[in-house]
Amino acid sequence: MLGFVTAAGADTIQEFLVRHWRQPLASQGPPPGRFSTLEASLAPEACGACHPAQLADWRTSLHSRSMGPGVAGQLVEMLESDPGSALSCFTCHAPLAEQAPRVADGARARANPVYDAALGARGLVCAGCHVRAHQRFGPPRRDGSLTPTAPLETLPHNGVTRTPAFLRSEFCQSCHQFTPDGFALNGKLLENTYREWKASRFAREGVQCQDCHMPDRRHLWRGIHDPEMVRSGLTIDASAGASRYRPGEIVSVTLTVESTRVGHAFPTYVTPRVVLSAELVDQAGEVIAGSRQEKVIAREVTLDLAREVGDTRLMPGAKAVLRYQWRVDRAGVRARLSVVVYPDEFYTRFFESLLAQGAGRGEAQIREALTATRRSPFTVFDREIPLT
Ligand code: HEC
Ligand code: HEC
Ligand code: HEC
Ligand code: HEC
Ligand code: HEC
Repeated sequence: MLGFVTAAGADTIQEFLVRHWRQPLASQGPPPGRFSTLEASLAPEACGACHPAQLADWRTSLHSRSMGPGVAGQLVEMLESDPGSALSCFTCHAPLAEQAPRVADGARARANPVYDAALGARGLVCAGCHVRAHQRFGPPRRDGSLTPTAPLETLPHNGVTRTPAFLRSEFCQSCHQFTPDGFALNGKLLENTYREWKASRFAREGVQCQDCHMPDRRHLWRGIHDPEMVRSGLTIDASAGASRYRPGEIVSVTLTVESTRVGHAFPTYVTPRVVLSAELVDQAGEVIAGSRQEKVIAREVTLDLAREVGDTRLMPGAKAVLRYQWRVDRAGVRARLSVVVYPDEFYTRFFESLLAQGAGRGEAQIREALTATRRSPFTVFDREIPLT
């Protein structure tokens, strides 16, 4: 089972993935002599010369921005003060050996002879997932076939070694799941997406990360930052207990958010915050003072990551219900219900505190990252229900 044939012979998906993601990745070494400059290049634009659709998609994805100012701004000082930790960030944010300015050398770090600063700034590039020792790896053809159609040496970049490993959630695991000995709070790993998925009905039904995040093999990887993606995973419902209330009566309104198509906890990380709210507005559209009530969906942790404050995330199939009650004192009242997503709530607080302490030479970049986190919130649901 799980066997497949590559140019190198029989292998298992597990064996392939262990080798493919063994950290730190080895440098590519010299390209085969027959490679053109274009084939030898690891830059995403070089791949895009022949694979323009993937390049166009990737450019819009967060994988292409994984060395954005929030990460790069922290690394400036960290590479000096704590190189070990800084280098660990690269394993997920810019994983190629050619992307890190330093290499570990015992407890210290030394200059990296194969460092390519321009490539380093590009984050999770095509080659990070597809190229090892200048050999291309990719999924089976869409018809499921694995074997080359022509002698490898006659194809651009000597063809592709195809493996079903690219179709599996385990392919994403090395960066979206901490290992069992990784950092945990309240007995739960800080990053646990693969295991949340593994415990869900989606794993039992064979629905992989790629089926939701790379539909039709597209390289978009939409997630918590995308309103359409978030809506696609939820079923949101709002209703009032009765169609009309009289002044003096207690109104009752219910807002329900059910996780129906999210393949892991909603949200999976400690960084987003989702707020369900209900409030009353009067005839003039003004909010009635004091009438607002909220319910939060988040795994909230302290800024220093010392403590988990609470965990109200929704596992697949679970729902959050805001039951709202209020005695109305006038006619013309409507309930306003909404669900607002703050994708970077933790980072907003984190960058603010970093700037307050002094972010050193990374300051300008951290300011830029803070501005971006403040702009990322959006509304996924908004409705008014007449009550009186
Ligand atoms: C000069 C053109 C050219 C360049 C540059 C190029 N490729 Fe390719 N690539 C091809 C062709 C042609 C095929 C189809 C080969 C086959 O069918 O075996 C292919 C196939 C692939 C496949 C398998 C696609 C499939 O249909 O399943 C992957 C993955 C891939 N390339 C990745 C890359 C990456 C990553 C880069 C940059 C580091 C790159 N390629 C650069 C021409 C190119
Ligand atoms: C080499 C490490 C690595 C691999 C492999 C990887 N990712 Fe990511 N992924 C990241 C990093 C780092 C980010 C965060 C980028 C940022 O915003 O800085 C990310 C972001 C994402 C996001 C966006 C999350 C959001 O906040 O909206 C999604 C979705 C995602 N990855 C899905 C996948 C899937 C599916 C796979 C497997 C096909 C995968 N990733 C493989 C490192 C990786
Ligand atoms: C095991 C893989 C992994 C490692 C190691 C890792 N990250 Fe990340 N990081 C991620 C993923 C996945 C995301 C996306 C999470 C999300 O969507 O909220 C992310 C998001 C971020 C973000 C927010 C997005 C952005 O681009 O601003 C910052 C900042 C960040 N990481 C900094 C770091 C730093 C600094 C280190 C090293 C101390 C580090 N990360 C190590 C996987 C990793
Ligand atoms: C996070 C890892 C990751 C990155 C980064 C990435 N890919 Fe892919 N790529 C995949 C996976 C996984 C698949 C298979 C998806 C599937 O079949 O569901 C794939 C499939 C492909 C295919 C086959 C598409 C098809 O229609 O059969 C090509 C070609 C390709 N990638 C090229 C690229 C290029 C070019 C880039 C950069 C612009 C890139 N990839 C970046 C993971 C990645
Ligand atoms: C059934 C569809 C589905 C599957 C399977 C799935 N996801 Fe998601 N994922 C979503 C939806 C919908 C969102 C947006 C809501 C959210 O953020 O939870 C999302 C969001 C994310 C995010 C954004 C960060 C966050 O805090 O939520 C990441 C990262 C991610 N997924 C990675 C993965 C990985 C890795 C796998 C496989 C182990 C996977 N997803 C499997 C549907 C899916």
